[in-house]
Amino acid sequence: IQRDALARIAQASDRRGVEDARVAILGKKGELTLAQTGMKDVPREEKPAVGQLLNEARKAITEALDAKLEEVQAQADKAAVAGVDLTLPARSLPPGGLHPLTIVRDEAVRILRHMGFALADGPEIEDEFHCFDALNTPEDHPARNEKDTFYFDSGKLLRTHTSSVQIRSMEKQLPPVRVIAPGSAYRRDEIDATHLSAFNQLEGLYVDTDVSVGDLKGTLEYFLRALFGSGTEVRFRPHFFPFTEPSFEIDVKLKVDGQAPRWVEIAGCGMVDPNVFEAVDRELGLDPGAQARYTGLTGFAFGIGLDRLAMIRWGIRDIRALIENDVRFLAQFQ
Ligand code: PHE
Repeated sequence: IQRDALARIAQASDRRGVEDARVAILGKKGELTLAQTGMKDVPREEKPAVGQLLNEARKAITEALDAKLEEVQAQADKAAVAGVDLTLPARSLPPGGLHPLTIVRDEAVRILRHMGFALADGPEIEDEFHCFDALNTPEDHPARNEKDTFYFDSGKLLRTHTSSVQIRSMEKQLPPVRVIAPGSAYRRDEIDATHLSAFNQLEGLYVDTDVSVGDLKGTLEYFLRALFGSGTEVRFRPHFFPFTEPSFEIDVKLKVDGQAPRWVEIAGCGMVDPNVFEAVDRELGLDPGAQARYTGLTGFAFGIGLDRLAMIRWGIRDIRALIENDVRFLAQFQ
């Protein structure tokens, strides 16, 4: 057996051949294995001698297999670099960089975390409750229209804003709530230089006892000045959102694209509408009167368009540049 095995191993010319030989000789049904199984039929007085012979054979064969494997591997390596000039300098790889959206998102998150906000998230495939109903958005509100929102057959939808994470966060934790949630949102908009059907927002929510409009203004002014520079002018314009009352749009006075400073709309915000707190309590199975967890508290929420933020910051005129992945565009943000 040993002689045949060693001859067979010597003939193997590649890895595969060596492995086949190993199986044929040492495998479960290999020649040597079968011989060792046959030990039980060997007369008792011959057992020690035969056993020793078989063990020696196994050792010799294993060593031969290992040596052969190394040999064929070395040959394969040599063949792989044959004709390659290993003294040539390596081709350098272009360095990667962060996407502009990643840069503005990370910066906004860094500032807000510093201010005590924790990261939160929620699903992009949402239900009507978290995207609309709990956010005090009536059944006939235009945002719920099939023309404006992507609905699935199941009745679920692609969230039209990150405000759904407000509800998700309140369901998940106890007050006080101080969270931010950057993420994608989707609307059936006509795609042009300022609209994509998938875009990015950053949501913020602060709920506690006695949160005031002053807190809202102070927090957002601080945040926006950290983002755009300490001298930046910020103004709050009355607006309407179903889930906040009062509601505001926030403008920041900025030089965009080298032009004279002008007011640029940057975010929506407002004081959380009491109906939102009530909806969360009800969903939690709590009576908003007797068992209220959120009803009776106050809070503010805000939502910032991250794509807009990137466009303003670098004077990007067409939002589509953010998703085309043209390296000539992306390489400018390193
Ligand atoms: N969800 C609003 C939007 O998408 C923004 C917003 C968030 C407004 C939070 C008020 C409070 O336009």
